[in-house]
This record gives sequence, C-alpha cells and structure tokens, in this order.
Amino acid sequence: MLSVTHTFKIPSIIGWHKLHYVCLIRIFLFLWLFAGENTFFAQTWENTKDWKKEPHRPTFHFSPDSMWMNDPNGMFYIDSTYHLFYQYYPKDIVWGPMHWGHATSQDLINWQHRPIALYPDSLGYIFSGSAIIDIKNTSGLGRDGIPPVIAFFTHHHDAKEKSGSNQFQYQSMAYSLDGGKSFTKFAGNPVVPNPGIKDFRDPKVFWFESDQSWKMIFAAYDHVRIYTSKNLINWSYCSSFGKDNGCHDGVWECPDLFPIKAENTGTTKWVMLVSINPGAPNGGSGTQYFVGDFDGTYFKLDDISQSEEKNKNTQWLDFGTDNYAGVTWSGIPEKDGRKIFLGWMSNWQYAQQVPTKKWRSSMTLPRELTLDSIEKEWVVTSKPIVEFSQLETASEMLITDQMIGDTFLLQSGSTLNRYQLEIEHAQNNKVFIRLSNTLGQYTDVGYDGKLNKFYIDRRFSGITSFNKNFAAIQYSDIRKKSGLIKMDIIQDVSGVEMFADDGFTIMTSLFFPEIPYQKATIQSTLTNLKFNGSVRPLKAAIFKSAR
Ligand code: FRU
Repeated sequence: MLSVTHTFKIPSIIGWHKLHYVCLIRIFLFLWLFAGENTFFAQTWENTKDWKKEPHRPTFHFSPDSMWMNDPNGMFYIDSTYHLFYQYYPKDIVWGPMHWGHATSQDLINWQHRPIALYPDSLGYIFSGSAIIDIKNTSGLGRDGIPPVIAFFTHHHDAKEKSGSNQFQYQSMAYSLDGGKSFTKFAGNPVVPNPGIKDFRDPKVFWFESDQSWKMIFAAYDHVRIYTSKNLINWSYCSSFGKDNGCHDGVWECPDLFPIKAENTGTTKWVMLVSINPGAPNGGSGTQYFVGDFDGTYFKLDDISQSEEKNKNTQWLDFGTDNYAGVTWSGIPEKDGRKIFLGWMSNWQYAQQVPTKKWRSSMTLPRELTLDSIEKEWVVTSKPIVEFSQLETASEMLITDQMIGDTFLLQSGSTLNRYQLEIEHAQNNKVFIRLSNTLGQYTDVGYDGKLNKFYIDRRFSGITSFNKNFAAIQYSDIRKKSGLIKMDIIQDVSGVEMFADDGFTIMTSLFFPEIPYQKATIQSTLTNLKFNGSVRPLKAAIFKSAR
C-alpha cells in the first residue's frame, strides 16, 4: 500500500515541478528578450564562451585553424565544391617558408579545413598562384579520362635571393588527378623561368576561347606580363602592361584578368586586378583595377584618362585598409556566371603584429564583382555573395529617424550584425554607426557630408598599439549613381565590411576591441535626418577542422 501511494505521488510532484520550470524559463526568456528599449539578443561570443578561448577569431570570415595565413590562392570549383588554397606557414604566426593551405566548401560560407596541399621543395617556397581544370587534357597530364586540376604557383628560392641573384622567382605547376584533394609537382618545373627580373610572381591562368589557348598573367615588379600556351607546359611571352598606368608607389603583385559583361549595356569588357604594396589610398596594401579589352595578346586600357599620368585616376577595388591580394574563382559554371572574388583581410603594414595568438589573418567575405559605369567611367562593384544571407537571422529590427542622437539608441546583444541604411541627404553632416563595448572602445563606420566621403574611424577601436599606422581614420572616394547615401555594413567580431551605394564604394577594416562590441548606436549631427534602415543579427558560419 505504502509503496503504491509513493509510486503515485512521486511522478505527480515531478510533473508539478516540470510545469513550473517551463513557466519560469518562459518568463525569464521573455524578460531577457524584451528588457530595455530596442534590445535584442542572438548567439554571441560571450554566450558561447568562444571569445575567451580565442579572442578576435572571426565567426564568418575564413581564418586558418592555426598559424599564419596570407593571400588566397588556387581557387577553383569542381563537383559542386569550391576549393580555396592560401599562403600558409604551419610553424608560426608570422610569415615563413610558404606552403599552400587548403579548405573546401559547398557554399563559400561554411568551410572544411583540409590537409596542406603543397609543401616547399628544392626549387623554393610555394608562393601565390591559381588553379584551373584542364578539361580537354591539353597538358596530357590527365589519366583514364580524368581531367587534371592544375595549380600554378611561384617557386621562391630564398637562398638565391639572399645570395644577391635576381632569378629567385619562377612559375611552376602541380597537378591533381583526384579533383584537387592531392597534388603532384610537375617534373619539368619551372614552366616559366626567370629572365632576370627580381619580382616575378603570382601567376593567374585562364582559358581564352577565341584562340583556343591558355593565358598566364603575373606580376613583374612594376608591371604585369602575359604569356600564352597551348598545353600549359610550354609558355611564350605575349606582352606587358602597366609601367605607365595606375599606382606605382609599391611593388605590383597578384594580378587577375577576366572578361565581365557590363550590367547596364551588356558589353563585355576585360577587368585587370593588380594588388600593390605599399601605395594603397589609406596606406600599405591595396588593390587597383583597370578596365579595357584583351585580344589574347595585348590588354588595351579603355579609359584614356587612366593612362594620362601615373598615380592619377587609379581605381581602387576597396578603399579600406584590409583587402589585399584578392583574385577570382575559376571554373564557375556558365549558368552561374558570377565573378566571385576573395581577398586577404589584412595589410602588410601590420599583418604580422595583430594581437591574435593562435592564428593570424582571415579572408574577406566572398564577393560578387560586377561591372557598371558612371558617366564615361567603368566601375567594378562588389557585393557579398547571395549565399551570405543564410547567416541572417529572422529578428530584423527597423532603425528609424527617432533613434538618432548621441544618446543610447540601439543596444544589441549580438556582436555579429548587418546594418542597412538609406539616407536621403546628410548635407554637411556626419552619419555613422558606432560599434562599441563597455570599455568605451569603439569603431565608427559612416559618411562624412563635409568631405563627401565614406569613412571608418578605428582610432579608439581597442588594441591598436601593435603598429603606429593602425589607429587611424580611413576615407574613401565616392562614386554614386543615385542621390541616396546607402550603407550595407557587415560586422564580425574583429572586422567590418561596408558595401556602400550598391557596391560602388567598398571599405574593409579590421579592429581588435578588448571585449566584443555589443552595442551599436546610430549617430548624426543633423537633427532632421531622413532615412530607412534595419539591423539583423547574424549567425556564425561553420568551420570544421581538417580530418
Ligand atoms: C602578396 C605576396 C605575393 C607572394 C606572397 C608570398 O601578399 O607578397 O606577391 O606570392 O605574398 O607569401
């Protein structure tokens, strides 16, 4: 009898408790979500404790599992998989003998780290380069009907450089018969020997349909060189470009050359990207571009004004300090047709000093490049790829003009956000989003009406003392189509990307607050500012370690 009573009562007590726990949890969640005006929460670094483990580790920008990374390399697409290789030194968090690190993705947002793809050898370190799929097996390196994936890179011979020789860089290749999982170096390397030019590197190879041959573009100190080949093995020189064009305040590196159809006219033009270090508009490393035509041998610049004087009218892909050595993916299927770009989100000015401990550097978000024009000038625009929207949570919040002022306006528990603003006019005023933390550290991202420039001010962003150039305001030139000022700002834990005016003006910048920025305010000196806006908390992407 006793035992029967007990067996009846105990479950009922548990049931009563369960009910109350559920109610209490609901009440707590309600209070938590709606405590305070305009407050919302999302998954944060604080919540997950990841910030404590690895402060500043980006959550949706690609970074190496550990150790040093610089340029993106060898990006190609095959079997529904995007491959990304990158300059990698597995033994330290500063630059060293270069390898190619490797990662793959189905959507360019979530990544699987892979084992190192290329190691240095007797010909040298493995510097930057590209990869293509040799579908017609022009190289003869394919086996049993499997087309080879061929990676082109620069061999950099450190000892030769130190001995004073000029011939320490040359272009080499490696091939893969398993879709890019593993590579074998070509026995006849180098395929493009060095004729005596000190800086001679970063080959980007592409197929040129009209003359059924391969082209290679690479950087040679103050210009780019174009070579041609029928079989990817024997290369001959075509032409050079750039000695008298664009910016020459530093060494030219990591070029790319690709056709692109202009959005508005449907005309196909050729875009050449050339990174330069130093010489960027806000100091250190940056990427300039040229628009013209390419006939398989020569690149001819379209805009006369660009060629009039060195350094004049240089067009910059990104005005921020932290987008370098970026190039585009190869092998994107025609039915997709996008030009997908990825850059290294750092700057040689301070890349080796930034305050991360386990790893150094990340990549920008993958961006879609398009070609547009303003008046008579071509403009290469950049936007985050559409796949990025999978990280947007549903809890969008509108930003209205009532929220403006120097007081608390919008408090977000999320350290990852996307802010989209459309402002009618700002006259001579500043309008900006201030990202801040409780230590009083902040970064401002906005528009300065007096200067008619977008800007990022990271002077008080947190840890800045590692390099004297870091704590500064960066400005961008402006090219706009409409009268509106549009800002699309994407905030990760240690960096921000601004895609202004529908991708016409881009700014990418790192920052290193001591604790995450969990508050955002919109501020302006103009009281009757008219605008629409929204903020969306973002989720972290998934990065899986190499197996
Ligand atoms: C650009 C660059 C390339 C070179 C590589 C070496 O950042 O200097 O020119 O191939 O890095 O890591």
